Amino acid sequence: MIPVCEPTLKGNVKKYVDECIETNWISSQGRFIDEFERGFAKFCGVKEAISCCNGTTALHLMLTAAGVGGGDEVIVPDFTMIASANAVFYTGAKPVFVDADKETYCIDINKIEEKITKNTRAIMPVHIYGHPCDIGQIRDIAEARNILVLEDSAEAHGAEYKESRCGSLGNAAAFSFYGNKILTTGEGGMVVTNDADIAERARNLRNHFFGKGADKYLHKEIGFNYRMTNIQAAIGLSQLEIADELINARRKNAQVYNSLLNEINGLMLPPEKEWAKNVYWMYGIVLNECLKITKEDFMKKLLEKGIDSRSFFAPMHKQPCFANKNMLNLPDCSGSYPVSTFLSKRGLYLPSSSSLNEEQITVVCRAIAEILNYVNF
Ligand SMILES: Cc1ncc(COP(=O)(O)O)c(C=O)c1O
Repeated sequence: MIPVCEPTLKGNVKKYVDECIETNWISSQGRFIDEFERGFAKFCGVKEAISCCNGTTALHLMLTAAGVGGGDEVIVPDFTMIASANAVFYTGAKPVFVDADKETYCIDINKIEEKITKNTRAIMPVHIYGHPCDIGQIRDIAEARNILVLEDSAEAHGAEYKESRCGSLGNAAAFSFYGNKILTTGEGGMVVTNDADIAERARNLRNHFFGKGADKYLHKEIGFNYRMTNIQAAIGLSQLEIADELINARRKNAQVYNSLLNEINGLMLPPEKEWAKNVYWMYGIVLNECLKITKEDFMKKLLEKGIDSRSFFAPMHKQPCFANKNMLNLPDCSGSYPVSTFLSKRGLYLPSSSSLNEEQITVVCRAIAEILNYVNF
């Protein structure tokens, strides 16, 4: 079986984790927290990084620290993982969905303005599957209206927009280090920002907003326990040390996939716009309508050949959990979202680990050729 994704744990990972155990620093204090935060801030090209326990809490922390709350609206792509929308809910704000762009699969820039109201507080673009959003245009829209740009960079470690890294492109950004991410800590997350106020609030909110000195147990705001452990950070630091290798492997594997799958008609391959560096968190393909096979049958046939794959996300406007009429900040799921609907119906991703080798990619591509009766492979 070729798995869809597995972590690449190597380098100093064992040494650092052993150090946590041997020194008893297994909780949320210790040298690895500081070093991972400082190292990750540098990696993104920003001043501040605040670690936390997963990407969903990173989103929640970022939104809350940036002042998003009840009565606000946040523009979110319809085509994303549900954590993006859920995090907006947690703050009491309402997510407002915008269809995907058919070339990048990220939020459609041309459909943002029609969704902005007097309550819009932020735009939260998602760099989907490792391809950055066209953030320049998003920033222009936001600046003209004095609203925030908060990046969901969960899937985009090391991706670049015009040579600036995702994470440094808006007012703040949130990352995930879940086991399938390019850099992983098992579970983990990070808020990054150049804004000292957002950073300070995020740090306080992460840890119950404890007071200072004699006032330690007087809490000015309701915070959370979203702390990362030193063990997670130890794994993270070891991953950061091999970040270039992990990212380059993803990009090289995508090129091998591209060169083999280019031959086969009816497949849309992942984008890389001229202004973008895609890190191919997941190598996604979309089955054009001209291919008569359903996505489900295609994935089943891949599995029979020992190849794991995953469906693209289901659109936000179709989520049963957003149809609960009792909720105050319920999003408007009416309207049409043709691109995200199409992507979700016809898109899937193939094995994408950084540790994948050329031989395995050839096996996957040959299996696809067989399933689609492409004889010249
Ligand atoms: C776009 C996006 N946002 C947020 C998250 C949430 O991250 P986590 O699973 O670490 O909570 C994910 C996870 O895959 C994601 O893909």
